[in-house]
Amino acid sequence: MNKPIRKAILPVAGLGTRFLPATKAVPKEMLTIVDRPIVQYVVDEARAAGIEHIVFVTGRNKQVIEDHFDRAYELEDTLQSRSKKEALELLEKIRPTPGATSFTRQQDPLGLGHAIWCARDIIGREPFAILLPDVIIKSHTSCLKQMVDLYDRIGGNIIAVEEVPDDQTQNYGIVALGDKIDDRASQIANMVEKPARGTAPSNLQITGRYILQPEIFDLLSEQGQGAGGEIQLTDSMLKLLETQPFASLKYEGKSYDCGSKAGFLSANIAYALDDSKLASELIPLLNDMLKHPLAAE
Ligand code: UTP
Repeated sequence: MNKPIRKAILPVAGLGTRFLPATKAVPKEMLTIVDRPIVQYVVDEARAAGIEHIVFVTGRNKQVIEDHFDRAYELEDTLQSRSKKEALELLEKIRPTPGATSFTRQQDPLGLGHAIWCARDIIGREPFAILLPDVIIKSHTSCLKQMVDLYDRIGGNIIAVEEVPDDQTQNYGIVALGDKIDDRASQIANMVEKPARGTAPSNLQITGRYILQPEIFDLLSEQGQGAGGEIQLTDSMLKLLETQPFASLKYEGKSYDCGSKAGFLSANIAYALDDSKLASELIPLLNDMLKHPLAAE
């Protein structure tokens, strides 16, 4: 039997420069999609996949993420005295079990690979998941749950992938597929970070969800700085691919890259349209804006 996936890493130490000045004092992960911070969607996805312990790799100015997952005594006391039962239940629901989260600091933003390596002692020698919190995945079944189900069948390392238009592959990490496992899953033969236009081995983008074996930490320990002076996760995954199987999963769902403005705004619209009451107010407003785009000026 494969060792279960109990722990997940959420690297939240990035600078979020694409959202400045909004992210000067507020972490990118705390920007809201409708009424929940981005990081909440990702934590919910991990919990729906049966993850028992979440390790946040944080940096300076990120304390508010820790506060978000803690009890808010004053607020809860006030809600209690005003009999705001629904609001209290909502806060109760999002709070993780005591002891089920860890926070460690990356100190310097030296890249995603370095952020993951910072969690090595908390994860220990067991397979684990990584969820990049700037990507949220809208799906019927938690994307990570779909990956865990595949992992339970085949073990090894699993990477979530999604199709992108052929003329956009140069913007993403792309996988080259090997043998097919089933309709959605295949072995991975290679991975290429941002392939030059016209050279991509497929149109399957690596989407920010991984299940990895602990040997990745040994490889990250040995790895020097790569592209852009950062320690890249892909470089160590490529090394691990030499000795261990990797499979890709074309998950059921759609990702929103909330690290980009267009992705963030479209996630807001997609989740708002999911709420029938909000949608009935929003749709006429959107229609009007599309008909008269300059009316707001
Ligand atoms: P990004 O490069 O997209 O995030 O990293 P960023 O640096 O915050 O954003 P921009 O480009 O400046 O706007 C992807 C994920 O990896 C984390 C980020 O927090 C994000 O979740 N990350 C990145 C770290 O935790 N540490 C790093 O050194 C780099």
